[in-house]
Amino acid sequence: MRFFIDTANVEEIKMAEEMGIICGVTTNPSLIAKEGRDFNQVIAEIASIVDGPISGEVKATTVDAKGMIAEGREIAAIHPNMVVKIPMTTEGLKAVKVLTAEDIKTNVTLVFSAAQALLAARAGATYVSPFLGRLDDISMPGIDLIADIMEIFEIHGIETEIIAASVRNPIHVIDCAKAGADIATVPYKVLEQMTKHPLTDQGIEKFKKDYLAVFGE
Ligand code: E4P
Repeated sequence: MRFFIDTANVEEIKMAEEMGIICGVTTNPSLIAKEGRDFNQVIAEIASIVDGPISGEVKATTVDAKGMIAEGREIAAIHPNMVVKIPMTTEGLKAVKVLTAEDIKTNVTLVFSAAQALLAARAGATYVSPFLGRLDDISMPGIDLIADIMEIFEIHGIETEIIAASVRNPIHVIDCAKAGADIATVPYKVLEQMTKHPLTDQGIEKFKKDYLAVFGE
């Protein structure tokens, strides 16, 4: 399983990139709004940091296929690594079909059922993003959805990749890896949590103490 980072914050993206753990970025309208800066400028900065797929979503106010197609073309023109993120609606599927025919990569987002994932794949989506955490939030096991989509895509030889999204903690990440998700898009905070273990900290302290006791500074 590969890692994308789920943020529009360029400082977080730089830190994750320096650790060598990410190969792509996902953003969404909420994450862009949090930065309070121009969409194109943020995306161009991200593209200068990470050499991999960068998902930029169509405006949350654009609900018709025609509008999504026009915006999708604009997003794709920002950088060759751009992936157009489209919400899972009937209009969204129409947009995916047209953009795919133009060789523009798409990421169908807000996927909450295997049926939605299958339709998105058949419309030509490069990626589908099932939202794990938001399902858990309503007491439906999000990981079961990832496993179901994996199974269906494997049975039918579907090449659309699964990006496990709405990842909230390290246990989610490990569960997604075990379920066979192609990619997990993970917030910086969770990536940081994944680096930590109390025994690692204790071990470092003990090595330091033992070394200093014999060799000094
Ligand atoms: C995915 O691409 C979304 O940006 C994201 O994972 C949503 O996560 P949230 O449910 O924590 O907002």
